Amino acid sequence: MSQDAERSAGLTRRGLLGGLALGAGGLAVGATAGYAAASEPREQLAAGALPEMGSTTEPCHGAHQAGIATPLQANATFVALDLERGVDREALIRLMRLLTDDIVRLTAGTPALADPQPELAQVPARLTVTVGFGMGLLRAAGLTDQAPAWLKAGLPAFDIDRLRRTWSGGDMLLQVAAEDPVTVSHAVRVLLTDARPFATVRWVQSGFHRPANTAPHATTGRNLMGQIDGTINPEPGTTDFDQVVWLPPDGTPAWLQGGSAAVIRRIEMDLTTWGGMDQVSKEEAIGRRLADGAPLTGGTESTAPDFEATDEYGLPVIPDTSHIRLAHAQGPGERILRRPYNYDDGPEEAGLIFVAYMADPDTQFVPIQRRLSELDVLNVWTTPIGSALFAVPPGFEPGGYVGETLLG
Ligand code: HEM
Repeated sequence: MSQDAERSAGLTRRGLLGGLALGAGGLAVGATAGYAAASEPREQLAAGALPEMGSTTEPCHGAHQAGIATPLQANATFVALDLERGVDREALIRLMRLLTDDIVRLTAGTPALADPQPELAQVPARLTVTVGFGMGLLRAAGLTDQAPAWLKAGLPAFDIDRLRRTWSGGDMLLQVAAEDPVTVSHAVRVLLTDARPFATVRWVQSGFHRPANTAPHATTGRNLMGQIDGTINPEPGTTDFDQVVWLPPDGTPAWLQGGSAAVIRRIEMDLTTWGGMDQVSKEEAIGRRLADGAPLTGGTESTAPDFEATDEYGLPVIPDTSHIRLAHAQGPGERILRRPYNYDDGPEEAGLIFVAYMADPDTQFVPIQRRLSELDVLNVWTTPIGSALFAVPPGFEPGGYVGETLLG
């Protein structure tokens, strides 16, 4: 269904396509009614009761790049590239023009120029491609004076880190996300074919959520530890979201205004040990109930946790070492947009691709990560093994290209 068709049917994409970042909005009425009427998703789809996501597109033009405020798609691949020696500002302009042309075509459901598999381009499935620039790209362009302080300095080391080079760093990021893993795979292949003369792949991480239509109503997704993950997040379309995520006009290098910062951490989970823990310990580790994501102080998933509440022994109901107590903002600026994906590359290689967007990593991400590093009991079962930081340029208009505000 096209976007316009969706709107004219009185259904918003946000309502229809649910996902980890969404609240308890629920699938729109038509979809819910469809579940009651038919039991098989394919039957419901045929009856028009489920949104046909394959042909749904996300706009790629605008003030901000797509893939940040966009409701989470079910699949994503993150690729970090290292630029070849000798790639300078002129070459980067050529590269970004090529990639932008691919992005415009593929996100509209049309093949890229010289597309090796044009058949695969016909299912856009809410495809978005988001591009980030690492410090190495600014160096190659001879534009280090344009780097924000946080990019120049990079993220500090945290005690819990066991970082591997194979999962860390990179001159450039491509975040490719869609509801269909075949669409993601094809888009990545096309983008990498065009990038090949300019760059080599440093790392690739692929992640997933449950597809939006596996639950009868939109629910917050679960990570591989079984927890409902994504409850507390700024709401796209609000001033709050804009302040948390986009770089403001004041104090920002002009080229990055309307852009963002992306932090990507690969966090391995010891799921075998975690799986053997009892329910109380699991719930105390996070500070929320496993069944419904409600805080341990009661209510529902959307009830605010009461961090002051104590039990009959005078101990905090939400333990001092619980993840949500430590991750909770301790000041108005200490907030981030989380857009994580689960990964599973084998029995001992599963975890979370923690992806977060924010205006300033130094004041928003770092204080949270420091507290988690020092005390979070979740560290017993989780280990950061990769880390990367990128400046995400603002969006582009038809005829323009990603990164033009820096390179142009
Ligand atoms: C594998 C590692 C992690 C797991 C399994 C995990 C899981 C969770 C879960 C289940 C929640 C509660 C529900 C929700 O609000 O989404 C949560 C909340 C949160 N997490 Fe994590 N998380 C991880 C890593 C991180 C990291 C690295 C950060 C940032 C440095 C972070 C920041 C947050 C924040 C800001 C909240 C909301 C806190 C609040 O205000 O209540 N998490 N996380």
